[in-house]
Amino acid sequence: MNDTKPVLVSGIKPTGDLHIGNYFGAMRQFVELSRAGKYRPFVFVADYHALNSMQEHEEMRRRTRELVVAYLAVGLDPKEVVLFKQSDVPAHTELCWIFDTITTMPYLMRAHAYKDAEARNKEINVGTFNYPMLMAADILLYDAAVVPVGADQKQHIEYARDTAEKFNRVYRTDLFKLPEPYIMADVAVVPGTDGQKMSKSYGNVIPLFASREELARRVMSIVTDSSGERPENVYAIHKLVRSEGELEKMYDEYQGDYKMLKELLVEDLDRYLAPIRAKYEELQSDPGIIEEILGEGKREARAISEAKMEEVRRTIGVAY
Ligand code: ADP
Ligand code: TRP
Repeated sequence: MNDTKPVLVSGIKPTGDLHIGNYFGAMRQFVELSRAGKYRPFVFVADYHALNSMQEHEEMRRRTRELVVAYLAVGLDPKEVVLFKQSDVPAHTELCWIFDTITTMPYLMRAHAYKDAEARNKEINVGTFNYPMLMAADILLYDAAVVPVGADQKQHIEYARDTAEKFNRVYRTDLFKLPEPYIMADVAVVPGTDGQKMSKSYGNVIPLFASREELARRVMSIVTDSSGERPENVYAIHKLVRSEGELEKMYDEYQGDYKMLKELLVEDLDRYLAPIRAKYEELQSDPGIIEEILGEGKREARAISEAKMEEVRRTIGVAY
């Protein structure tokens, strides 16, 4: 692996079944950017972030394994990518603590996720409040240049940038590099079956590993209204898997025939997703591979992050 390339860092929480919003909005960029060979990629399972909302032993284990298999199924190559679990690398939580000490409460109170949770009147745990600082640590530990994510994570990257600047200012150093978000404009917000942002919390998803039957069921449930020229919610999802030039013709030809257009969408989605699904199933039958890959990722991520932490400890004056 080439150490001089700019670093790419991203992660996903193992909290639910992956959907095509996760794939087109984030995962596909992990794969494409890693394959392009221009970056040194680190991709992880954000299990400590998941702990804020998922506190069930079996589910944590199962979903963590599923996410690793999913990373491989969509095309991440563990020979090119450092693939690891956040909880395997203690530097993440250690650096989070150091960031906590230079961060103010009012600043964290401005985070969208915190404000949303508060508006829903939930009793917010400290981990949820502190979420952006752990995420800043995830990113800054590896000197990330780019962080591919969906649009909903933009503010979190800004928190990471602000935190890098703050640390550098407080300790008069240039130890932390400012990361850039990598958000693909046309898939920044993939819509769900109801036209709102696709999200596991809204029950409007098309699962990434759905069978053809399941795809058909979800597509048939896409909300259409008969007022416009074409069923916009169907079109918006169709655009992910077929060029707009081809779609224009198709949607003209079958104008008004929503059932036919939905069937064509099922066909296209199924063709696009079938190889990913097949790979996912193939990998399920090889459980040993997960430990092997995570073991290797842990060694590599620990070595790199520990070297950075040594510099951090020296900079703040707790190590000499
Ligand atoms: P969810 O909203 O379903 O809980 P997560 O928050 O776990 O999804 O998101 C994991 C990654 O997928 C993040 O990078 C996020 O920005 C991206 N993502 C999630 N939903 C979408 C969407 N509808 N469109 C684009 N990207 C998305
Ligand atoms: N907050 C991200 C999400 O909900 C997951 C995440 C945690 C992440 N740490 C990260 C993404 C670091 C990119 C970089 O999807």
